[in-house]
Amino acid sequence: MEIIVPTTVEDHPYREFERVGWERAASSYAASFEAITNLFAKQLLAAVGAGPRIKLLDVACGSGYMAAMAADSGAQVEAVDFSPNMVEVATRRYPRLPFRMADAEALPFADNTFDAVVIGFGVHHFPFPLRALAAARRVLRIGGRVAFTVWAPVEEHLFQKVVVDAVREIGNPTASLPTAPAGAICEIETCLGLLRDSGFVLPPPRAETLTAFVPIESALQLIQLLTDGTVRMSSLIRSLPQEKRALLPMAVEREMERFRQGDVFKVPAAAILAVGVKA
Ligand SMILES: C[S@@+](CC[C@H](N)C(=O)[O-])C[C@H]1O[C@@H](n2cnc3c(N)ncnc32)[C@H](O)[C@@H]1O
Repeated sequence: MEIIVPTTVEDHPYREFERVGWERAASSYAASFEAITNLFAKQLLAAVGAGPRIKLLDVACGSGYMAAMAADSGAQVEAVDFSPNMVEVATRRYPRLPFRMADAEALPFADNTFDAVVIGFGVHHFPFPLRALAAARRVLRIGGRVAFTVWAPVEEHLFQKVVVDAVREIGNPTASLPTAPAGAICEIETCLGLLRDSGFVLPPPRAETLTAFVPIESALQLIQLLTDGTVRMSSLIRSLPQEKRALLPMAVEREMERFRQGDVFKVPAAAILAVGVKA
């Protein structure tokens, strides 16, 4: 029997905003923001039991490092991202791994193909995250696991908060991150709701907050890293008029001061890890 796999997604301005942003960020991602998402990758892979003989799909794989970690653990890996530039970077870095261009909402794989699907810091970038999780569920075999990470609320995710607060202080008192049409995805309850609503049922899906301390040398380094390697924070920073932007490093440094440890700042980054099983 022929298996029909969806290949197209609904046009949406938010998808376009993200696509343009990731196309721009792709060339610097591996040298910038990857160092932050990487801090949570081991736990994400452990949550789906990545290892020998596991067929694993990395969705929104970015520069490809997590797919490479999974392959090193013995897993049989496929990886997709909707940004052609990201796929090119990942393929150049890990030429033996099969990276493909695909949207998370239209995965180009047959039903019941994988034992595990991981989505590292992707779900909050999708215009319709429920559709993406339903797609992940479709390609999982019965008993297969999905795990995803998103950033925790800004009050807990201080790595983001130090910059958001500085932007608010110097230029835009109501500044906030651009949000997908589905709304913010940063609370444990929202993540669990997405898992339940996309059909992950047994055993009960679970979610927890993880914290890592990011060593940062200076406010300038943090601003550069976010400007080059992200889409939403980058757009927030770049929304400042030029004369205000010059004030940003000093304002961020003031916010970071409480995290100083000798010559570096150890700034807490907080993520939610959510796990579901296809019953
Ligand atoms: C923050 S990066 C995360 C990359 C990698 N998973 C990691 O943990 O470092 C977000 C990635 O999601 C991809 N992305 C965003 N929206 C997507 C979509 N609708 N379908 C597939 N990939 C998408 C971007 O191109 C980007 O590579």
